Amino acid sequence: MSTGTKQPTETEWEQKLIAIRRQLHQYPEVAYEEYETTRSIRNWLTDAGIRLVELPLETGVVAEVGGHNGGPVIALRADIDALPIQEETGLPYASTVVGNMHACGHDFHTAVILGAAFLLKQQEEKLPGTVRFLFQPAEEKGTGASLLIERGALAGVSAIFGLHNKPDLAVGTVGIKPGALMASVDGFEIEVEGLGTHAAIPHAGIDPIVAASQIVTALQSIVSRSISPLANAVVSVTTIHGGTTWNVIPDKVALGGTVRTFQEEVRRQIPDRLRAIVEGVAAAYGAKASVRWFQGPPSVQNDAELTRLAAETAARRGLQVVTPEPTSAGEDFAYYQQHIPGVFVFVGTSGTNEWHHPAFTVDDRAIAPAASYFAELAVGALKGR
Ligand code: NI
Repeated sequence: MSTGTKQPTETEWEQKLIAIRRQLHQYPEVAYEEYETTRSIRNWLTDAGIRLVELPLETGVVAEVGGHNGGPVIALRADIDALPIQEETGLPYASTVVGNMHACGHDFHTAVILGAAFLLKQQEEKLPGTVRFLFQPAEEKGTGASLLIERGALAGVSAIFGLHNKPDLAVGTVGIKPGALMASVDGFEIEVEGLGTHAAIPHAGIDPIVAASQIVTALQSIVSRSISPLANAVVSVTTIHGGTTWNVIPDKVALGGTVRTFQEEVRRQIPDRLRAIVEGVAAAYGAKASVRWFQGPPSVQNDAELTRLAAETAARRGLQVVTPEPTSAGEDFAYYQQHIPGVFVFVGTSGTNEWHHPAFTVDDRAIAPAASYFAELAVGALKGR
C-alpha cells in the first residue's frame, strides 16, 4: 500500500500482490544469491512505510509493524529463494533467468507475507503488539532459518507462523494439523573400499561392488526391522558410483542417500543402525567402509494450541480447513520451532504439478485471501486468542 492518502480498493490491492508475485517469478535467485529479491522486498516494504529491522544479512529481509502499545512479538515467515531448474511453464511471466526457477512457489510465499505486512501496517496504531516479518533466504539449502536465528531474527518473538503452497489443495483451502507435518532431512555418504583387480581374477582382489550391493539391500532392514511399525521413516539410497570399465573390478564404490523421519526418537536411532550395517556388511566381504552423516532440519512439529488458533481463524475467514497428509519433504521452518512454538500452514494453490517440477505453477487467486488470513492470524496470536 502506498503511504499516500488514497486507500486502494480490494481489487487494486489484489492486483498489486499478483504483480509482486509475477515480478519475483521473473527474476528467480537461488539460495544466498537473492540480492535483487532482497532489494525489491526492501523497496516494497519501505514504500509502504514499514520499518526494516537491520540485521547483519547479505540476503533476506526482516521488518516490523506495531509495538506502539507494547505487547508481544509474533513472527510471520516467508522464504524467498528459487531453484536451479529450467522453467517449462510457457507462462508470459516465466523466469527470465536461464536455469533458475521459482519451482517451489517461494515467490508466492513472499507475496502473501508482503500482503499481510501491508494490511497490518494499515492497522498499526491499534495492534496489541508487534508483528515481525521474516523474508528468509536459502530455504532450499536448509540453512537459511538457522542463519536468521543466529543473527537475532527471533529476539523477543513468542510465536511464529509460516506457509507453504500446496498444489494438490484447491484455492480457498488450507491444510492445518497439529504435530508432525514435514519430515526431518538427513543425508549420508558411504565409501566402500575394496581392492581392485582384473574382472576375470576376482579372488585376487576385494570386490567393493558386491559389498556395496549387499549394503544397499541390508539398509532396507533399518525401517522394516529396527523401527516400530507404528513409527515412520524413509531410508533411500539415491546414488551409486563405482567402476570405469567392464573388465576391471574397481577399488572403491561411493553410495549416497537420505533419511527422513517424523519423530526425533526415530531420527536418533538411524545413524547408529546405518553405521553398524555398513561397517558390518563391508567387513563380512573383507572390505572397509566409512560413513559421513549430514544433519539437516528436524521435522516440522506444529504447536497444538496455535494450530487451533490457525484453524479457527481460517474457518472464520471462510477458508476450507482440511487435515493434510504429512509429507516426507523437509522444511527449515522446523528450526524456528525448536526455539518457539509455531505453526506451518499449507495453502491451497490449485497447482498443475508438484513442487520442484519444471512446469510447477500456483494460482494467483490464492494470494490475497492468504495475505488477509495471515494478517488476522497474527493479530489473533497477539491477542492470545
Ligand atoms: Ni519450498
